[in-house]
Amino acid sequence: MAITEEFKQELKARTDIADVISSYVQLKKSGRNLVGLCPFHNERSPSFSVSRENGFFYCFGCGAGGDAITFIRKIENLDYVDAVRLLAQRAGMTVPENNVNDGMGKLKGRICEANREAARFYHRQLYSPAGKQALDYLRGRGLTEKTIIHFGLGYSPRDRFELTNHLRSKGFSKDEIIQANLANQSKKGNPFDRFSDRVMFPIIDLRGNVIGFGGRIMSDIKPKYLNTSDTPVFNKSRNLFALQFAKNKAKGQLILVEGYMDVIALHQAGFENAVATLGTSLTQEQAMIIKRYCDEVVICYDADEAGQKATQRAIGILRPTGINIRILTVPSGKDPDEFIKSYGDQGSARFRMLLEKSGNDTEYRLSKLRNSYNTDIPEQRVAFLTKAAALVSELENPVEQDVYISKLSHELDVEKEALKRLVNKNNRRSYRESIKDEQFRAQAQMSGINDRMNRDKQFNLKAANAEEAIISLMMNNPDIAQQISKELPPDKFVTGFNRNVYGVLLKRLSAGDDISISDISGEFSEEEMSSITRMMLSHPRDPDPSLAAKEYTEILIEQSERLTPEQAETADYDTIMEELRKLREKKK
Ligand code: UTP
Ligand code: MN
Repeated sequence: MAITEEFKQELKARTDIADVISSYVQLKKSGRNLVGLCPFHNERSPSFSVSRENGFFYCFGCGAGGDAITFIRKIENLDYVDAVRLLAQRAGMTVPENNVNDGMGKLKGRICEANREAARFYHRQLYSPAGKQALDYLRGRGLTEKTIIHFGLGYSPRDRFELTNHLRSKGFSKDEIIQANLANQSKKGNPFDRFSDRVMFPIIDLRGNVIGFGGRIMSDIKPKYLNTSDTPVFNKSRNLFALQFAKNKAKGQLILVEGYMDVIALHQAGFENAVATLGTSLTQEQAMIIKRYCDEVVICYDADEAGQKATQRAIGILRPTGINIRILTVPSGKDPDEFIKSYGDQGSARFRMLLEKSGNDTEYRLSKLRNSYNTDIPEQRVAFLTKAAALVSELENPVEQDVYISKLSHELDVEKEALKRLVNKNNRRSYRESIKDEQFRAQAQMSGINDRMNRDKQFNLKAANAEEAIISLMMNNPDIAQQISKELPPDKFVTGFNRNVYGVLLKRLSAGDDISISDISGEFSEEEMSSITRMMLSHPRDPDPSLAAKEYTEILIEQSERLTPEQAETADYDTIMEELRKLREKKK
């Protein structure tokens, strides 16, 4: 591992998880723990809990969990080493640089370097004779030289070996180039450039790393845009195009558009707070990022039907974050880029007018809703009001609710009190529904139905529970961990994920390393850490750990001797007879 155990020990001693999390989440004391609203999903009532004594956090709503390092990885979107750096800085420590050459961290570094070199290469190509058509294309779309350079736009040559050869000559390995998704692999195993004959848009993260690319074809060939697939440094659902510029210009507001070109056109027109998703619809993770940088977002999607559907979806995702939402509709079916361009010099001023006129999302949704009813007909009027009341009941702010109730009662000539009752009825119901939802999720998690980390669990519930109990016991009681490890070989573990976790614990034990939750987070991904934290919670400290260990070990040995359903299907006659014999023995 990159970071030495001594360093981790000192960091652990100097880091108070509650302090760390308090800089992001407002926490309140509740019994022995602290609770607050989960920063990783949208919720109204707190299901996010922090245990100072155990050094972990866990959200009963979305299942996110782990130690302080895992928290920082998740919330700052950092890799393990960078998260350690950040926490170390907080604690007044510095990570010795020669310590940070671990495998994954090193690969990520190389991928970013390859991407940066690729971006330079593409940019140079744009100004070469081969890139003339691309440069003309960008100029033809109204981009200035300054904008092209500001965004580092480029051109990927037609010949599918140019970038790969260039990167090879700069010392990047075949594997690094493929891992960066700058090249694909031929059937013979040779890499060839992923992007060919496209205008290139580099995607840059908040630390200034080039993490991926979008590439637009200049003809009608599909797909119009090709994007980097997810790589160790690039995750489409966790990044936003141009956020590295927009975050400094936000002044409390971001403009969310659909396309790369919309962002670029807006920035050029002086709206440098525009960002876009990366070829997918808005995710919860992106909503949380947006919320971190502003308190108002203006959704400005295409006016076509797909764009309007996407708007509704985005509202649904942004609304629960409590952020103020406005909707800007560009007239006559244009997208923001086309709109600005169509007014030439006036583009910027025209767009500013639209921005100032743009209404908030409740108004937008109510007017959309109203359009689908003829409110002159009494039945339809009732139907509309019922739906409208449900919509208003989603608003968190009672004053805001009151404003819309008054407005509706006035416009549709119904008694305000009646409307209010309708809204209140919904208020109560949706609260009940949300509780039911969370209970269901918790139950599903316990029974393994939704355990994405451990797919084997739902078929081997009993074994999986014993495995998890043993893992928790070991992590909570390092003194008996050695004993368990001697008596229980890893192949007795039935489910794959738990076997891996157990394997890591054994490896650390034999190296003399600690195995508490804050010692092991360098060995697992964020999702894996969440699962391990959940295990610890479902198996709290046992009054007699040695006895418990013995019992669980027995269960596990017994369970591991049973055939799995798949094995039973393919097992031969003798094996099945043997299995039945064992079962009969046990019954006696
Ligand atoms: P649009 O087709 O609206 O893009 O897709 P645009 O930016 O207006 O494109 P121009 O103006 O024709 O150049 C919106 C976004 O959806 C993603 C891209 O991120 C694009 O910017 N997209 C679109 C893809 O990822 N692949 C596609 O084939 C098309
Ligand atoms: Mn467009």
